Amino acid sequence: MRVAIVGFGMMGRQIAQVFAQRGHDVKAMDTYPEALKAGTLEIENGPYGLKTAVAKGKLSMEEMQQALTRIHTTSNMAEACKDADLVIEAAIEELKLKRELFNQLDSVTQATTLLASNTSTISITKIAEQANHRQRILGMHFFNPAQISKLVEVVQGKETSQDTLRTSQALSQIVLD
Ligand SMILES: NC(=O)c1ccc[n+]([C@@H]2O[C@H](COP(=O)([O-])OP(=O)(O)OC[C@H]3O[C@@H](n4cnc5c(N)ncnc54)[C@H](O)[C@@H]3O)[C@@H](O)[C@H]2O)c1
Repeated sequence: MRVAIVGFGMMGRQIAQVFAQRGHDVKAMDTYPEALKAGTLEIENGPYGLKTAVAKGKLSMEEMQQALTRIHTTSNMAEACKDADLVIEAAIEELKLKRELFNQLDSVTQATTLLASNTSTISITKIAEQANHRQRILGMHFFNPAQISKLVEVVQGKETSQDTLRTSQALSQIVLD
């Protein structure tokens, strides 16, 4: 699966690692180049990062290297998201920004791409309100630290379709593997 992460801060990094560690290609996007660099370093060296997983015997060195090569970073949203099967937005917790991001995501992704927000507190219905394809927008709320929490809340907006919910529930099983 191809996963795009929009917002490579604390949660975006954790979510990117979860998918890359389980064999999925990840493109991470952030408007701040420093966040892209820091994020990649944290995935490798952070307290819940890949080297820690190797030290605990949960991952081999080879698996760690493979996971790292699956993560690509960019500051260009279209480049990150154009081929994605699933986009997870993990930018800062502001309704105005998230609305703008989902309007852009609506136009730069394929019609079948699921568009998820990791918001903790904002209504998915409100985030999706001004987008054209509201049926494919939903919440996928990962918990901190996502690498070990084994839990994702799937959140339905007023116009999220049943197909979107079913697919996202299947995808969220990835964190349980
Ligand atoms: N912190 C937590 O424990 C936690 C847990 C679950 C969910 N969340 C949710 O996850 C989301 C991210 O939280 P966080 O703690 O990772 O925040 P954070 O501040 O660590 O990261 C946010 C990132 O978004 C980036 N960003 C800002 N504007 C952007 C834009 N226009 N396009 C792309 N990236 C942009 C910032 O550069 C930053 O790297 C929020 O919605 C938050 O509510 C947070």
